[in-house]
Amino acid sequence: MQDTFGRTIDYLRVSVTEACNFRCIYCAPNGHTDPAASPLSVDEIERVVRAAVALGVTKIRLTGGEPLVRRDIVDIVRAVAAIDGVQDLALTTNGFLLARLARELADAGLRRVNISLDTLRRERFAKITGVDAFDAVWTGIRAAAKAELAPLKINVVALRGVNDDEFADFARLTAEQPWHVRFIELMPVGTSAAASDFFSRYFISASDIRARLPELDAATVHGNGPARTYRLPGAPGTIGFITPASEHFCNACNRIRVTARGALCACLFGERGTDVRGALCEGVSESALQDLLARAIDDKPERHPFGDDFAIDAGAMSEIGG
Ligand code: 5AD
Ligand code: SF4
Repeated sequence: MQDTFGRTIDYLRVSVTEACNFRCIYCAPNGHTDPAASPLSVDEIERVVRAAVALGVTKIRLTGGEPLVRRDIVDIVRAVAAIDGVQDLALTTNGFLLARLARELADAGLRRVNISLDTLRRERFAKITGVDAFDAVWTGIRAAAKAELAPLKINVVALRGVNDDEFADFARLTAEQPWHVRFIELMPVGTSAAASDFFSRYFISASDIRARLPELDAATVHGNGPARTYRLPGAPGTIGFITPASEHFCNACNRIRVTARGALCACLFGERGTDVRGALCEGVSESALQDLLARAIDDKPERHPFGDDFAIDAGAMSEIGG
């Protein structure tokens, strides 16, 4: 389905939990507050996805919080993968529980994973995430590769003075492995990152990241705009940039989200969203549910307010779902 600005909406991100086993400095350094409500059940998730697919959504991503902390995550994957019309099913994870779950998730129908990894150094990892889990995550990444959850993407949030001396190491990974490393600009959302002093201290723009990667001069380039990717000579993997702050890509935005609490958000920076869970609890019919989603898509704003005004009132990323 198309929204009022002519964008085709074919991608739904489903946050399956607000909980997380990490406490990343930019997200939830003091831990995650107890979720006010229990997250959507497997059944509820299945119904929402089914309605979205009826409206033309073909790609689903499960996010959180940390989706793998849900004990029934494999059931969720199996239920969503079984829906006719779901062509792509991916999951974003911090990787901590992936060593144990990668194979089961793949068998249940998961296609691929994005793994968040901001450093390749053990001590630094503990400082950034609050948990000494680099080895566990690295084992998880290998398990995901082995389970053919491909193409495997590694998301690196670029943080000035924290990991900006490692960009070349991350780039080098792509010369060894068929992985897609993506540097993400810090966004002013989340308990700490929304504070303007935190943001201005740690933010590095994509062009500054690029300036620290002279090896990209020799790379081949694919695509343009925010989707531009680089490939080092002969490398199996690629390097990319996600630039929410420095470049508007709202005009190409194809996504909607449902939060763990069951609110449907057409824009990450928009209003709190339509209460889908309430409707489900009231026994909404399949067609009424589709109408509810269609209305939310219709209300999708044209663009987010970055660059105009930094006063963004979105909850922590763990609440709204990356
Ligand atoms: N800015 C950029 N990325 C963020 N993430 C969480 N909070 C922020 C933020 N403020 C990232 C995680 C992960 C993905 C789900 O979102 O590190 O890569
Ligand atoms: Fe957890 Fe992701 Fe937030 Fe880190 S950024 S604390 S992994 S939800």
